[in-house]
Amino acid sequence: MNIRGRDFINLEDYTIEELEGIIDLAVELKAKIKRGEQLDICRNKTLLMYFEKPSLRTRLSFETGINKLGGRALFITKGEIDPGKRESIEDTARVMSKFVDGLCIRTFAHEDVERYAKWSNVPVINALTDKSHPCQIMADILTIKEYFKDIKKIKLAYIGDGNNVMYSLLVGCSMFGINMSVATPKGYEAPKEGLELANRNCEKSGSTVEVYTEAKEAVKGANVIYTDTWTSMGQEAEANIRRIVFKNYQVNDEITALADKNHIVMHCLPAHKGEEIDAETFERYTEPLFNQAENRRYVQMAIMAAIM
Ligand code: CP
Ligand code: NVA
Repeated sequence: MNIRGRDFINLEDYTIEELEGIIDLAVELKAKIKRGEQLDICRNKTLLMYFEKPSLRTRLSFETGINKLGGRALFITKGEIDPGKRESIEDTARVMSKFVDGLCIRTFAHEDVERYAKWSNVPVINALTDKSHPCQIMADILTIKEYFKDIKKIKLAYIGDGNNVMYSLLVGCSMFGINMSVATPKGYEAPKEGLELANRNCEKSGSTVEVYTEAKEAVKGANVIYTDTWTSMGQEAEANIRRIVFKNYQVNDEITALADKNHIVMHCLPAHKGEEIDAETFERYTEPLFNQAENRRYVQMAIMAAIM
């Protein structure tokens, strides 16, 4: 696999062989870190992280990840540089890439990350946009591989909002051959582009995507139940209406009872207990849930080691 110099913005920009290569490298790096090794693959390299939205996992996993690779991270928020106002994204990106070896960007508009990539001379990593969250899904694939021997035999049921995480799950699962079912309320369906892409990927990988409006239908026999917030960052004004629309899409005892008996529950986090997942259910699945969070670091270390 030679992907040095490439951006990591969309899973669909990569072949399945390249994504598998990243996962294999993540497995290797995780084992080394667990043995207490300090690595130097990114020695003297600097990652600049520019975030327009809050973050716990993404920030910690990238910062500690680049440290473990022998490099360092700088973190800047919108208020400090105000791209688009203080100076254009085009100029911001060109200045940034004079000083660092990689950019890691969390924005609202997906097109903004693409603009940084167009104008930057160093690789750009998508750390979440309103459209997608590819690093999250790479960590999810690694986690699923740790829990299930043959990922092509399992079914992942996503319950909730047709958001950025669902978009990337549709693309990622269909590429890796994981069967998927989704259940969303009317008006909050899977993004059309994600569904079309997934259907095309399924023809190659042999997996399937099923679309439902009833959570109970989607979750039947599932090996993985996946959910995410009903109100993503930037949608806060809609939170009250969303609580009403999504009330039948909570992961709880009634839902988990319909899954395969050896299922796990996943969530990209942060969780809103009493909304998309009830508090007792959350506590029963903390082992996979926090392993999933931890795996962010290893896949992102692999991405940085491979492209920067
Ligand atoms: N899952 C995830 O991306 O979490 P943060 O928003 O805290 O980074
Ligand atoms: N869908 C959520 C994911 C957070 C990691 C959001 O965009 O806020």
